[in-house]
Amino acid sequence: MDFDPEAVRTFEREGWNRAAAAYEASFATATRQFIPALLEGIGPGADLLDVACGPGFVTQAAADRGATVTGLDFSAAMLAVARDRHPGLRFDQGDAEALPYGDASFSAVVSNFGIHHVPRPQIALREAHRVLRSGGRIAFSFWAAHAENIAWKLLFDAIAACGDPKASTAPPSGGGFASPDSGASALRQAGFAEVETTTVRGIWRHAGAAALIAAFSSGTARTAATIAAQPAAAMPAILAHIAAAAEPFRGEDGLDVPIAAVIASGVKA
Ligand SMILES: C[S@@+](CC[C@H](N)C(=O)[O-])C[C@H]1O[C@@H](n2cnc3c(N)ncnc32)[C@H](O)[C@@H]1O
Repeated sequence: MDFDPEAVRTFEREGWNRAAAAYEASFATATRQFIPALLEGIGPGADLLDVACGPGFVTQAAADRGATVTGLDFSAAMLAVARDRHPGLRFDQGDAEALPYGDASFSAVVSNFGIHHVPRPQIALREAHRVLRSGGRIAFSFWAAHAENIAWKLLFDAIAACGDPKASTAPPSGGGFASPDSGASALRQAGFAEVETTTVRGIWRHAGAAALIAAFSSGTARTAATIAAQPAAAMPAILAHIAAAAEPFRGEDGLDVPIAAVIASGVKA
């Protein structure tokens, strides 16, 4: 399948609209763990844009630190949750590839697990650069490689062993960030200086293998499509594969699954 940015945009928007209601109780229990690292250095006086804000947890956390905040997302359903949960904050509908703000509007731009969902992440990073004032800072997070991001490794190893990794008909993505270096070089290409990356680790708790699959299914777009496309007959084996591989991570109340994300940051000269 050829890369078609509009097909990716439509697929992602529909997927996140579908996930919005369940997101807080499912995928956000993973993504929220990385908010403190993403917001390092943010405090009173910051004028911050949260790109791909989803239900607005990062936006709220930045406001709690004293920043003036704006959340932006292209999903109407995500924005409805954000506005309902954080009634005092500003949330705008818009696309990360075409931010509806003038040049030099913000002192900080952040995006928690948003940029790699945009059809052309490089355009989103250039847009972030455009809306930042000189001296302003960007920070964005993306998932680390499966080798250290065990929740993903459990799922995709099981699908590779017992299902069909190519079953999904989702349009191929515009490309994520395979490593800290790829995130850093994308920032440099977008014009940022003082580029840094750091890997942050967390634990994603689930009652068991079925709960882990359910969290991906109800709270994501592309990964949910991959799971939904698996042949029904393969699901018991996929579940059993995850359960066996996850045994080393059994804690007192279920599975304590390691997860890891890269925070990439840079400054507009
Ligand atoms: C994994 S969620 C992250 C949500 C939130 N930042 C968090 O910390 O949990 C990805 C978000 O990116 C948004 N998104 C994806 N592509 C986008 C685009 N091109 N423009 C704006 N938002 C986009 C989705 O609607 C969704 O809310």
